[in-house]
Amino acid sequence: MKPEATTPLAPWRPRAPPRPRPRLREDIVARPDISDSPDDWWRSAVIYQIYPRSFADADGDGVGDLAGITSRLEALADLGVDAIWVSPFYRSPQKDAGYDVADFCDVDPVFGTLDDADALIARTHELGMRIVVDIVPNHSSDQHAWFQAALAAPPHSAARARYIFRDGRGDSGELPPNTWQSVFGGPAWTRVIEADGTPGQWYLHLFDSTQPDLDWTQEQVREDFDAILRFWLDRGVDGFRVDVAHGLVKEEGLPDYTDEQLIAASIGDTTAPSPHFGQEGVHEIWRRWRAVLERYGADRILVAEAWVEPLTRMALWARRDEMHQAFNFGYLMTPWDSGALRAVIDASLDAFSRVGAPSTWVLSNHDVVRHATRLGLADVPPLGHGVGRDTPGLPETEHGVRRGRAATLLMLGLPGGAYLYQGEELGLPEALDIPAQARQDPAWFRTGGERYGRDGCRVPIPWEAQAPGFGFSPTGASWLPQPDAWGRFARDAQRGVPGSTLEMYRSALALRADLALGTGDFAWVDAPPGVIAFDNGATRIVTNMTGEPVTLQDPLLAGEVLLASTPLEGSFEPDSTVWIRRA
Ligand code: NOJ
Repeated sequence: MKPEATTPLAPWRPRAPPRPRPRLREDIVARPDISDSPDDWWRSAVIYQIYPRSFADADGDGVGDLAGITSRLEALADLGVDAIWVSPFYRSPQKDAGYDVADFCDVDPVFGTLDDADALIARTHELGMRIVVDIVPNHSSDQHAWFQAALAAPPHSAARARYIFRDGRGDSGELPPNTWQSVFGGPAWTRVIEADGTPGQWYLHLFDSTQPDLDWTQEQVREDFDAILRFWLDRGVDGFRVDVAHGLVKEEGLPDYTDEQLIAASIGDTTAPSPHFGQEGVHEIWRRWRAVLERYGADRILVAEAWVEPLTRMALWARRDEMHQAFNFGYLMTPWDSGALRAVIDASLDAFSRVGAPSTWVLSNHDVVRHATRLGLADVPPLGHGVGRDTPGLPETEHGVRRGRAATLLMLGLPGGAYLYQGEELGLPEALDIPAQARQDPAWFRTGGERYGRDGCRVPIPWEAQAPGFGFSPTGASWLPQPDAWGRFARDAQRGVPGSTLEMYRSALALRADLALGTGDFAWVDAPPGVIAFDNGATRIVTNMTGEPVTLQDPLLAGEVLLASTPLEGSFEPDSTVWIRRA
């Protein structure tokens, strides 16, 4: 028995010359295409999300930057990921940590320069990885020149047409144009003061009031974004993660929510049909974007951030002529429950294969409570609300990390593409003790502190246990305070340490590549209640969620143990996953 297998790293490399893909009609139930074409790298790739503010800070100001990322990239090649996705680093007043973009074709000085972006792209490629950047088409910053021009222009002018300005309701326009609510809390409309000093029109912002929504019925907006895509493709990026890819198009006439929709929206529920999310018209935009990318080659990708349910609906974003992938948030939101997990895996494989796409799998990102904490909670707060020290039922750290590791090995055993979020490979839990005065998320401010928001998953990550700021920044400065206890999670405290979370991730990624799990054949295996078991090719993946140990003599576990999330010493412990080469 080998408790922790470590096999040589297998970075991405072209394998065979491209071959034409069969064209399937959308209504035919299809398996996702399995292809050796290097163009299809994304179908089985493991993509690592970098949140630039919190990854590595080269200039010592306490905010991560592009030079910092470049200087630490070797650690990601060493981890064995195929690609990185970098959250926004564009010019921005940082009211929503960079998702409020003031210039889509420039780098914010806090993150560096365009030369730094070029250096990052080049170094990523040199190390055999791909790079996907974020693009934010639903809205801009209120500091964008387009919005400033709109504010300076009169109502109903061409400059205002780029955004969604409307006259208010009520006798003197004193009421918002409709009842829509901002995802961050409060009304989704803000009234402007016109040039003559009087209160005037209102503009729509589905997020913060500093993030006005663009009007995608305008051809000018569409052309501007074509040019933005080309700007980054020309610089060599391999694709885009598309922010709010279910937004952009609003129902004609901007009708009020029903009471039911209003409640659903206020708790972050995306299943209810809404007049601003998941409108049919968005798909036409993705077809247009796909055509822009295809001119650069079939290996450039689009991945949708589309919070829509059910999965059959989300899969529409990954149709052959639209995006390549969509983040599987249905999977991310599934609690630690064997029945629920089986159901969501079935639904995912089915929904995405119907459109010929691979499923993706994801457990953490910069908007959700880190999975080493979240999966231990009995009641997970609604999306974006976050957790703090007083949240009921917080898991004890060891237990949360153990469950998080089991969840990761289960996820990485599934066929398709997988997304990792920086720090999860270190087993980081959510940071719970961020003082009110240090918090930054607009959701915290817009709800008067009622929602903790997302700062707890965005704390700068630890690199070196003994260095100031745990090696995040040479000065020890950090834009969000790092918990004192995080030294034990530092990368240098885990690298080369058998059984550490970092080594578990490294082994899992190396094995995943060697065993071709990303493109393997999936089949459920009968298992007792509370145990999840499936075969991926010749590899069996078993997770014990029963709360009790399972005996190692169980025929389910017959074969050579390749990797285990908890050491196997006489029994297969609860909250553990094991990978087995079947006998
Ligand atoms: C989704 C992003 O992931 C989130 O961080 C951001 O606040 C909103 N979109 C608005 O851009």
